[in-house]
Amino acid sequence: MAAGDAREHILELLRQTSEGHVSGEEICRVLGVSRAAVWKHIRALRELGYDIQGVASRGYRLLAAPERLLAAEVRAGLGTRRIGGDVRVFDRIDSTNTVAHRLGAEGGADGTVVVAEEQTAGRGRLGRSWASPAGVNLYLSVLLRPELPPQRTIPLTFLAAVAVARALAETCGVQAELKWPNDLLLNGRKVAGLLNEMQAETERVNYLVLGIGLNLNMTPDQFPPLLRYPATSVRIASGRSADRLQVLQSLLRWLDRLYDEFLAQGPEPILRAWDERCAFRGKPVQVSGGDQARGVLVGIDADGALLLDTAAGRRRILSGDLQPLSGKD
Ligand code: BTN
Repeated sequence: MAAGDAREHILELLRQTSEGHVSGEEICRVLGVSRAAVWKHIRALRELGYDIQGVASRGYRLLAAPERLLAAEVRAGLGTRRIGGDVRVFDRIDSTNTVAHRLGAEGGADGTVVVAEEQTAGRGRLGRSWASPAGVNLYLSVLLRPELPPQRTIPLTFLAAVAVARALAETCGVQAELKWPNDLLLNGRKVAGLLNEMQAETERVNYLVLGIGLNLNMTPDQFPPLLRYPATSVRIASGRSADRLQVLQSLLRWLDRLYDEFLAQGPEPILRAWDERCAFRGKPVQVSGGDQARGVLVGIDADGALLLDTAAGRRRILSGDLQPLSGKD
């Protein structure tokens, strides 16, 4: 067993125990290694920042996990089928999407997850940048290799948005609304954004990168000035800070479940789930950037296009940026 796997296994045992302590013997038995090897792994975990108590007659107990996200922590007890078989965590990189692209080109596995504590050149949609201060939020990219023609992968953006919303509901007790095409809002302010990129030929996807930026514990002073759309974080919106590891694991589990469902049943369940959380339904909105239109937002159709009732009748909008219109606009 590789050292990383053994440490993951030990952490899982320490977390699962209801007794408080896990004896050294038990760890030896489950892992099939010697006492000396267990001691070496415990020492390595302590060096990584785990506070593990050792009591002579009782064994080991996990008192605290480090603040930093660690691949072993993210994978411990994840239980997913496709997403997160390979998790790479970086302290500081330019962009998780860029790294995921590199892994995609090098043959990285379906479901590989790239996480960064900090991004120095986080990328947003339409050439914008994404503020990515260290240690407070989640910045991740998931590499997918669906065996589908490029046009059938469009619902994956909606899938990622639904997964983030469900993870936030599950772990932080907040209900995000989804702003077409790929933003999440809390109290009408942007809490997360998605940047999905694809490397494909006409008929076939080589790989796809789902980039997710989720503002969890960012404080108002950490936002750049002059944002196009008002932004927030879970902490600002709810008054409570979020456990980044818990949110990340929940998100990976939802991505896994919804991706499975998508591959087995097609896009309908995902588009329906997205539509249920659709922001500004029945409200006047304006679309700019790609398509240009004003009208009342109806929802999305079976292809994920935005439906607007405009003065000239119902329109399908395929791309652009959406802004709510106040009564005065
Ligand atoms: C947007 O709303 O404009 C999309 C923002 C996407 C940001 C995430 S953070 C993780 C991943 N890496 C990037 O460089 N961008 C995405």
